[in-house]
Amino acid sequence: MIILAIESSCDETSVAITDERKILSNIIATQIAEHKIYGGVVPEIASRRHTEAISQVCDKALCEAGITYSDIDAVAVTFAPGLIGALLVGVNFAKGLSYALGVPLIPVHHLRSHIAANYIDTPELKPPFMCLTVSGGNTIITEVTDYTKFNPIGRTTDDAAGECFDKTARALGLSYPGGVNLDKIATVADTKKYPLPTPHTENQFDFSFSGLKTAVVNLVHNKTQKGEEIDTPVLAATIRQKVCDILIQKTISAVKTHGHKTLVLAGGVSANSELRARMQAECDREGIKLYYPPLKYCGDNAAMVGVQGYYEYLSGNTSDASLNATATLPINYR
Ligand code: KG4
Repeated sequence: MIILAIESSCDETSVAITDERKILSNIIATQIAEHKIYGGVVPEIASRRHTEAISQVCDKALCEAGITYSDIDAVAVTFAPGLIGALLVGVNFAKGLSYALGVPLIPVHHLRSHIAANYIDTPELKPPFMCLTVSGGNTIITEVTDYTKFNPIGRTTDDAAGECFDKTARALGLSYPGGVNLDKIATVADTKKYPLPTPHTENQFDFSFSGLKTAVVNLVHNKTQKGEEIDTPVLAATIRQKVCDILIQKTISAVKTHGHKTLVLAGGVSANSELRARMQAECDREGIKLYYPPLKYCGDNAAMVGVQGYYEYLSGNTSDASLNATATLPINYR
């Protein structure tokens, strides 16, 4: 089944052509360079750039896949959650295409598609499994009981892990997107030199990252005011270690408590080098099979939307032209 998939939830305009779990093309136009000068994504600029890019990105995706519009069996699109103006560009483009081609329109939840990035090169991976989805806007542990059935076990009560990485990186003077740059410069953590707080949550599988973020920002401001030097690579490594400690401890505990044997990582932060390495070591110790997406599918892309779209289609989750974009929506919305 040939799906034309569209992603525009944040600062990447992407169109992919997929065939079940196979990727025929995956074109991404990133806006990072433009948002960098503001230190983060400016929603209004993101919407405008999506509008400018989407037709060309779509043409390129068709060309690279070697197909034409008449070969398309369905159109899938990220409709939630994300920046509302940015989502609307993709949703309206998808609605127009599906109407013009007379093919089904498949709405895809952004976090579900991040999880589906793991299906691309792994024919053996099938639900049920436990999943940690860590991105710029979300941190959630979910039981994936079927391709379109999700049971959230824990989620962040305030900031996402990616937000914590991005904002602490900014305090350290690193450019956007901070998480990637913090990961690159981090050396060896020193928790005596830079002690950071461990957050407490009521539900043992929930997360909280805002206190950690504030602690780092205050630490940097205090040292700067006193004219003291900050060892940036060491502080970056200490932040990364603390975030990974929290993510790994809670996720492994959730996998064991719920009796799963397979764990999947998803979302932009799943590209983090320490998270991958330490989670792998922990899973090996506990006899858990670990999957994480290839780096090129960790960030926002339409290939993962097409793959999840295929399973949404099989479950009957299609929409008519009344489909709207939604800024927030739980992963288990139906
Ligand atoms: O999934 P994603 O591309 O967008 C959202 O849907 O949010 O995730 C973006 C997030 C940003 O916070 C970015 O800094 C973070 O993923 N990120 C990383 C790394 N690569 C991307 N964080 C830590 N280490 C990385 N290597």
